[in-house]
Amino acid sequence: MSRTDSQNWQVPALFVVLLFPQLFHTSNGDVGTAAQYSPPYLPTECYGSDSSQFPSSNLFAAAGDGIWDNGASCGRQYLVRCISAAITGTCIPDTTIQIRIVNYAASVASQPSAGGTTMVLSQTAFAAIANSTASSINIEFQQ
Ligand SMILES: *[C@@H]1O[C@H](CO)[C@@H](O)[C@H](O)[C@H]1NC(C)=O
Repeated sequence: MSRTDSQNWQVPALFVVLLFPQLFHTSNGDVGTAAQYSPPYLPTECYGSDSSQFPSSNLFAAAGDGIWDNGASCGRQYLVRCISAAITGTCIPDTTIQIRIVNYAASVASQPSAGGTTMVLSQTAFAAIANSTASSINIEFQQ
């Protein structure tokens, strides 16, 4: 890339950065629900007893029936944010996390905090977007 080309890219790139928060809020992400689950996180329906596929951030989740996709969801990454909950103030505002699907909600070793949710977040993931004392939250999520 020539010097001129790289300079020409700077203006559009700046606009993308500036507009990103706005784009996200008007995005066509799906609305669903999330519960949380606690260790043990192994074994998983996706990777057996192999923990090497867990992100080091500990931001991972088990897929509920709606997104499990018969196991095709293993390894998929989603942007997730809390949009509301039964108790006002539960959501941590303006916080979006990226999680990776590592398990099937119906197969997790420990009991999720609520049943039938779109996804079940690790304790770390849940606490990053909501008050960790909540059992279930409404989320916006996008692959
Ligand atoms: C989390 O929720 C509990 C129960 O509603 C409440 O007592 C606590 O103050 C909340 N924590 C924060 C940080 O909002």
